[in-house]
Parts: sequence; C-alpha cells; structure tokens
Amino acid sequence: MRLLSSAGLLLPLTALTAALTDTPFLGFPSPWLSPDPNDVEWQTAYDKAVAFVSQLTLTEKVNLTTGTGWEADRCIGKTGSVPRLNFEGFCLMDGPLGVRYVDKASAFPAGMNAAATFSKRLIRARGEAMGEEFRGKGIDVQLGPVAGALGRTPQGGRNWEGFSPDPYLTGVAIAETIKGIQSRGVIACAKHYILNEQEHFRGSIDVRIDDRTMHELYLWPFADAVRAGVGSVMCSYNKVNGTYACENEWAVNYLLKNELGFRGFVMSDWGAQHTTLGSALSGLDMSMPGDIMGPPNSPQPPYGSHWGGALTQAVLKGEVPQWRLDDMVTRIMTAYFRINPTIIPPNSSRPKPNFSAWTQNTTGPLYKASNRTWTTINEHINVQSNHSHLIREIAAKSTVILKNTGILPLPLSLDSIAVIGNDAQDPPNGPNACPERACITGTVAMGYGSGTTDFPYLISPATALSHRCRQSNITFLNTTSNWDLPTARAVAADSSLAIVFAAATSGENFVSIDGNAGDRNNLTLWDNGDELIKAVAEVNNNTIVVLHTSGPVVIDYAHRHPNISGIIWAGFPGQESGNGLVDVLFGDVYPQGRTPFTWGSTLQSYGVELMTVAADPRNPTQEFPEGVFIDYRHFLTPGKGREGDVTYAFGHGLGYTTFEYGLLAVGREGVWPGYGAAEGRTDAAPVVGEEVEGDEVERWGPPGGWEGWRIPRYVYPWVNTTVFNSENGTAKAPAIGDFPPEARDGGAQGLLPAGGKEGGNGGLYDVLFWVSVDVKNTGEVEGVEVVQLYVSLGGPSNPSIVLRGFEDVAIKPNETKTVKFELTRRDISNWNTDTQNWEITDHEKMVFLGSSAMDLRVNSTLEIGQRIVQPGSGKP
Ligand code: NOJ
Repeated sequence: MRLLSSAGLLLPLTALTAALTDTPFLGFPSPWLSPDPNDVEWQTAYDKAVAFVSQLTLTEKVNLTTGTGWEADRCIGKTGSVPRLNFEGFCLMDGPLGVRYVDKASAFPAGMNAAATFSKRLIRARGEAMGEEFRGKGIDVQLGPVAGALGRTPQGGRNWEGFSPDPYLTGVAIAETIKGIQSRGVIACAKHYILNEQEHFRGSIDVRIDDRTMHELYLWPFADAVRAGVGSVMCSYNKVNGTYACENEWAVNYLLKNELGFRGFVMSDWGAQHTTLGSALSGLDMSMPGDIMGPPNSPQPPYGSHWGGALTQAVLKGEVPQWRLDDMVTRIMTAYFRINPTIIPPNSSRPKPNFSAWTQNTTGPLYKASNRTWTTINEHINVQSNHSHLIREIAAKSTVILKNTGILPLPLSLDSIAVIGNDAQDPPNGPNACPERACITGTVAMGYGSGTTDFPYLISPATALSHRCRQSNITFLNTTSNWDLPTARAVAADSSLAIVFAAATSGENFVSIDGNAGDRNNLTLWDNGDELIKAVAEVNNNTIVVLHTSGPVVIDYAHRHPNISGIIWAGFPGQESGNGLVDVLFGDVYPQGRTPFTWGSTLQSYGVELMTVAADPRNPTQEFPEGVFIDYRHFLTPGKGREGDVTYAFGHGLGYTTFEYGLLAVGREGVWPGYGAAEGRTDAAPVVGEEVEGDEVERWGPPGGWEGWRIPRYVYPWVNTTVFNSENGTAKAPAIGDFPPEARDGGAQGLLPAGGKEGGNGGLYDVLFWVSVDVKNTGEVEGVEVVQLYVSLGGPSNPSIVLRGFEDVAIKPNETKTVKFELTRRDISNWNTDTQNWEITDHEKMVFLGSSAMDLRVNSTLEIGQRIVQPGSGKP
C-alpha cells in the first residue's frame, strides 16, 4: 500500500505503533488548521480566514487553490480570484534574491552571500528590503528563501540560491529572511521541500533517505522556517522514498504539517504536481502554475489541470473530503491575514500587481498565453528605494578573505594595480544581455535560472577599482581576456600588484552553459580561469585572486603558491559587486565574511556524488549513503573524510586584526528533564461555510455564456457534466481505493510526540545551557570577530562537531567583550527513530568556540546535571 511505500520504509511500523499507541498516525489524514486561542495574533488571522472562507462557494474555494495556468496571467504564478467579493487572486513571483523579470527593482546579493556575513542583522535587513520591493510591485508571495538545495554536493546547481550546507546556519538565515520579508506584508515561501539537492534528473529522481538524516540535516532548516511563521512552502520536483514530494504524505502531512506544525499552505513547484487525489490527500494546498505543463500537443486531461475543475469534481464525488478543500483555502487565507492584519476584504488598500512578468514594455497582453486583453501592463514603479546601500554593505561584509600574507588591506602608496580577467569586467552588452543570466560574458554577480533578477545596474570590479585608483592616484591597468595569457603576463609583470579575477557559475537545469546543465560538471574555474591565475602568479609576486563562484572551487594550488598573496571569495554579490569588493580591499569596511561551506582540495574529497547517469533512466534512484556527513561534518569526522583534504575550513575568513579567546563559562538553565512528548488531540476537521452535496453537479458547471468570454488556456474551477458522468470522471492514478480510509478521516487526531507547536515540540526550544566567552582584540585596528559555537554530540554516529551558534561582534583594539550564547534542547539532541522524538543521548556533550570549524580555541563539557544558574545571574 502507498502508505507503506514511503512511510513504512523509514518508520518501521511496529516501532512506530509502539511509540505512538495513542496516535496511530502515519501520513494520513492531512492535518488541518485548528484554533489556537493561546496565540492571539494567529488566532485573529485564522478567525478572519474562516469568516472569509465561509462566504465562498465551492468553485470560489477551488479558484483560490489553483493557478490560472503558465503565462496565463501577469505573474509567474497567479491563482484564480473571487470576483463576486472583489477579491483578486494571489500573485506569486520569483525569487530568492529580488523580484525576477521586472525593471526598477534591486539585484540583491545571493543567499549564500547573506549567509557569509554571519550577521543576523544583515540577513534580516535583506529580507525586509526584498519584502518592500515585492510589496511595491503588488506581489502577494515571494518565491523564496531557499533551504533546499541545502548543498549536499558542492556541484549542486542551485546551492547559491540558498544559504549553506550547514543546516543550523541555513536555519537561522532562512528564519531571519522570512521574518524580514513577511514584516513588509509579503508572504515568504520556503522552498524547495525537500531533497531537491541536484538539478540532474530533478523531475524524476527518487531520493532514498533515512529518517535520522532527514531530521538532523535536511528538515532542520525547514523547522526554523515554520517556527518563524513562514506563510508558504513549495514542494519540490523530486521523489522522496518512492513518491513525488508534492504527493508525499510522509513529507508533507506527517513531517511538515503534523510534526513541524506548519500552519501555512503548501504550493507545488511549477509542474511538480502529478495527480488530483494524491496531492490533495497528501497535503498540497495550491497547484502551480495550475495547468498541466506537458510537452506541446501531449494529451491533456479534461480539465487541463490536476485541480481546477478536476478538484471541484473530486470534492463533489467525495474523493477529496470537503474539509480538505476548506483547509487548503483556510491555510491560504490565514497566511495572508497573518501578515496583513489590517486588511479586511474586499479592501481596496491591498496592492495590485503593477507589472507583467512576461514583458517590460509598457503595454502588453494581460493574458499572455492567449495574447488577450492588451492594456497598460507595466507601470514601471521604482521600488529600489535606498537599498543600494544595504546591498553594498552585504556585498562587502560577505567578501571572504581566504588567504592574506600581509598584502591586504591594500596600501594607498601602491604605484599601480593590474586588473586581469573577464570576470572583472562590465559585460559588453549590459548585465542582462543573457536570458536568465546564463552566460559569463563579464563579471558574474549571480547564478542562472529562476533565482535571478534583472540588474538595474551592475558595478563591475574593474569600474569600481578604476574609480578608487583615480581617487588615490594609483595607475590602473586592465586586461580582459582570459585566454590571451601573454598579454595577461605582460600587464601583470608591469604592475606593483596584480588582481586576477575568475568565476564559476551554476543554476537551474532548464538552461545549460557549456554542458553544465544546472549543476557544475566539476570544481574548476570557468573560461580558462585556473590557467589565467597561474600565468599571472608566475610573473607577479603580489598577486591577489578574486573568485566569483557559486560554491567552492579547487584552489589548493593557489593557496600553496608563494606569489599569491591573497585569495578572496566574493560569491555572487549582486548589483554593487565592485563597490563591495573595493570597500574590503582597501579596508574601508572590515572583512567579516566567513565561508559558509568547506573548500576541499579535490572534488572527490567531499565524499558525495552528484548523480549524472542513472542505472534506470526511467526511474533514477539516488541513495544518500553519507547520511548526515556532508561538508565539514564529513571532512572533520575521523573515518569519514580527512582534515588534510581541507584547503579552507567552514567558517574561515581572515580579518585585519587578531583576536584572543579567554575565559569560557558554561551554565545550566531551565528545567531538567522538563521535556515530554506532545499530548492531546486536535478538534475534528471543520467544514467551513456551506456543505456541498454530491448530487448538485449542475450547479457547479460554468455560468451561462461562458464559452463566449472564456480565455483560452486559462484554468477554470467549473465541472464539466459530461466528464463528471462519464467513466473517466473518477480520478485515476491513484484512485481513491489506493488510499487507506484514514486519508479521508476528519475525526480528531492525536498529536505527534515531537510536534504540537510551530517548529515542533515547544520543549525543543527551551534553553538548557548558556555559554559565554571573552574575546579580546589584540591587534591594532577595530575589527569584527565572528565567534562560532560548535557542539560535539558524542558517540560513534555523530559528526565530530556541529555548528550551534554564531555572533558577529565588533571589538576595539585592546577591548574585551563577553559573547553569550544559548543552547536549546534541540541543539544538543539527536533524532530517535524509534520514539519518533528528539532525545539527549548519554554520550558526553562538549562545546567548542572559535573562529572556524578548524580553528577552535576553547572548549568545555556540558554537564547535564550542572548547577542551574538563573538567567542574568552571572557566571557559574
Ligand atoms: C521552478 C523553480 O524550481 C522554482 O524555484 C521557481 O519558483 C518556479 N520554477 C517558478 O519560476
């Protein structure tokens, strides 16, 4: 049975039923929203949603769950609307670093750059600024931020859209970003849920994952997203243990909605929905883009959509219970009212989209797919505000100095600087010349695919450097070709300093550059970059390498090269690229960037494999044999990877001063053991508004005269009586008989032990320890130390260390600051697959503080029985 094909593989039925005697819940039914009077803010939104949804007819409800079709409307995704109540459908737009496909909006630094700042303040501010821009364009949902791909393999094409292969860093970053975006009245969308770790085969790959790895690695940041109150989650293209993610009752019902207590709505990635019933019963709430994007001329099912009229029909036939549809709409509307508390529909202050995703011309069709209704489609509203300052600050503070033999910060007494390489230059035809940014004709400041925006402008490194040189009377030389090595050598030899630029990009698999179909084929620099670096370093013993790459590259040769005095990773810094870099090069901004991933000496040293060839191409299957051991967890755990294979450790980044770590203090807080399995039962599933009767089919057909005004290729919610009454009228593949009766059971349900609150069991977030460390600036200049806290969970099956805290702290010369951290129960727990709950094992726990995963300065054990110190009462 389906139930066992995905859930049973991971959750041995006997163990699970023993653990959950009161809660015989596997993956069905799909959890519904229940009132929560303890959370007044949320309850208010929920009440408004229920009041609104109660007024809707069956087809109006369906309309809000289903997109109107690919390119059918003016947004990347647009749901149907409720004209009777003057309620516009929801406008959804990419992406994670700004508004895609529009003009007069900003190109922010990529997610991985936000993570590289290790600054919660900057990450939050970036979210706020992006939220303002989406709001200004009249968008309801921003399709970002990203926690999947997490970054299992460094080649992963879309890693840069997210934050870091470390789940803790990604968890903090996604939560801050969500809070920022949503504070501006825009629903954030945590994507891609889940295990979309590579682009090759992404639409069919079956990822086989074990329960522990799922919880401790890939699900972890999504828990933070849910706890931050994210309004929506996008399920991904791939399969998880045999079932597509958007039809996967274990991933969506059991983990996301039940265990993590997600109260928002789940939308499909574009075309990631495969069936009417499987998706509805497994917890999908919104179908995107709504139609079925089969190849041209492929057979279309009767409604042109898995939902729309097909969902109305399924509800009328009882294949999808009405409470499930009502829950979909209530989730969508609650998410909306939660972040727009002042809006009561129909309310004219709700912003309307003022652009078209499909053209930047002023006039164009409102309905692109059918080329209908030409109108003023772009109002060209400028939403950039003063965000360029923040973008420049993040660009500078995410710049990571990997190597510095003393040349940085650059002295103003320099005679000349040679800037070398295509990656320093203005793209000859402008920064947006290549569709989807899928080329490297000049400097690279973002990857390619749907995670991009149009640049309003792009300050290249060459432009910024030449400007800075002019200010300081430094001679500026520039050569652009990566292939003309003799010229590169000649220019470099002539100059007191050579800065050589190189790039490696990646993106989404619908575009491919040079055979890199989204994922990178290797970890070398593109466009002859490695050879260019070597050529320059041959002739100039003051060579600095600057890298714009979507992740690590193999750079060990440069690290060891005696003539290479500096290596800088600038990531994908967005529109202020050159300015941010120059700020750090000359020491105008302190370099606080730290690498959010490990730099291995070879591709093989990462111990994970990108799957590029499938044994069975019709059913590509991928195991994750490395389990939780990715990135530094692999390199630094004996018996897994080798420390000797690390060129630059996770968290590494050099500054312009030195810090000394002093007194470390650890104290116990809170109640012990104080953690119990969540208990209680939900209410029964509510039916919201009118209860529909299955025999009222005629009532839900299209209104009279529809054929006259129907927009071709637009998805409508009405049933077709002929289809309804025909043999084909019952949903197929899977049919209703393929689901256990629980799938439609709207009776009260028991909670899962690790569940109960948004983000999981509330006790997981109780603070159990505080840790403080004194850090002294022993150098000459003020600087920012990124103090990192790692925990060792002990025992044979854990990584040596896992990140569990970080703070960026500005410290003046000779000053000492005490930096304080809190450790929650979750931070020191492992997932127990038998009890289906988190537990603190008996293995010794330790805490390490330092400057990177391989530069740990002080440590202490964590004694569970340690004396309890009340918050604020000082050191133990
Ligand atoms: C597919 C991508 O995977 C997703 O990230 C994006 O939001 C949608 N396309 C819409 O463009």
